[in-house]
Amino acid sequence: MQQVQRAAAAAVSSVLSGHSLPESLEREIGKVRLTDQQRAAIQACSYGTLRHLGFLRFALDQLVKRTPKDDKVLSLLLVALYQLQFSESAHYAVVDHAVKSVGAIAGRSLKPFANAVLREYLRKRRQLIDAASRDDVARFSFPRWWIDKLSAQLGSQAAPVLASANLHPPMILRVNRRRMQAEEYVSLLRERGMVVELVGPEAVRLAVPVGVRQLPGFVEGLVSVQDAGAQVAAHLLELEPGQRVIDACAAPGGKTCHMLELCDVQLLSLDRDERRLLRVHENLERLGLGAKLCCADAADLDSWWDGRLADRVLLDVPCSASGVVRRHPDVKWLRRPSDIAGFVLQQRRLLEALWQVVARGGKLLYVTCSVFREENQQQVNWFLSRHADARVAPQHATNGGELLLPSEDHDGFFHALFEKI
Ligand SMILES: C[S@@+](CC[C@H](N)C(=O)[O-])C[C@H]1O[C@@H](n2cnc3c(N)ncnc32)[C@H](O)[C@@H]1O
Repeated sequence: MQQVQRAAAAAVSSVLSGHSLPESLEREIGKVRLTDQQRAAIQACSYGTLRHLGFLRFALDQLVKRTPKDDKVLSLLLVALYQLQFSESAHYAVVDHAVKSVGAIAGRSLKPFANAVLREYLRKRRQLIDAASRDDVARFSFPRWWIDKLSAQLGSQAAPVLASANLHPPMILRVNRRRMQAEEYVSLLRERGMVVELVGPEAVRLAVPVGVRQLPGFVEGLVSVQDAGAQVAAHLLELEPGQRVIDACAAPGGKTCHMLELCDVQLLSLDRDERRLLRVHENLERLGLGAKLCCADAADLDSWWDGRLADRVLLDVPCSASGVVRRHPDVKWLRRPSDIAGFVLQQRRLLEALWQVVARGGKLLYVTCSVFREENQQQVNWFLSRHADARVAPQHATNGGELLLPSEDHDGFFHALFEKI
């Protein structure tokens, strides 16, 4: 367990100093030889610690006079507290191993301190949970600014949105329509004893997540992993065979592949990140689909556009990712309030450029995985005020777009379908 605690703590510490969790985990997991089980445990501990960080920091602050200065000691204690509160690991083992790890990292003199903190936690657990329920940052495990912003924007819907962001996300599949109907795939999984449920036209939810290689036909392209909320966009575009379609921010290719599974369109998929674009290529290959790929800044039309207008544009913009926190719990601690304005500017630059490539009568679907109004409804209002040739498609017209709030069943997304008139 020591190896798991130390690697998870190193990943948490790296996130607290500003790096993303996937990047931090990749680095930590790459350092030592690990079994699949250890790798999964490191992942579970680091994701779990970040998911509940507000509560864990609150509890630690109640137990110590001063927060440990050494980031590695601090992170180890947080990981151990996470295990004591949220995992099924035996308490004595968690404490014993964490104390040894603190000794190995920061010297023997800190071992009694670590031991005392963790044992005190076990003694005072009930009182601490009770006190945390009266402190919003501890109760929701979100930064104060985020709680305030959502409360101001969503009112009574803020609390369930914050609570759903701390649930363990379900594994959802997208069945490749070209190969099989979702109902047939559900039967296939049930024959294998798996508990599954149909939650969208192609979306299948697994009661217990499995490795993708355990999914029948995964390698052969029968199925992909994609949240149910992310499966909405391709349907909203109302694709028809032969249409020219541009996916302007395509990587890793979830929506590119979904569109091609639904309809024979001529697709150009752009992304400015070469490494991520490679993943679009791999996904297309596995699923037996074809699109033209181009690594470019989509807003710089001179660098990629051949002048031919598109019938449909999917603009799945870079954003705060505030709707997908349950899958990326590092995001809530990495974001700063001032980041939102930066995303807003990037989104406007992309919207302005991509609108130029839409044919008259064509449609542009603006998508974010954000729940913040600045990136959603306010962007729609800004865009409509500048373009007399744009209107929001009738089904979205009343709200200027559709905000799919994150819930147990799906991540949070915003969709606005613009028509060129
Ligand atoms: C939300 S992700 C897209 C997810 C993707 N549509 C999917 O369904 O798998 C946003 C993507 O936009 C890309 N991106 C950001 N700015 C861009 C730009 N100016 N031009 C092209 N791609 C950009 C990022 O590299 C990232 O891959």
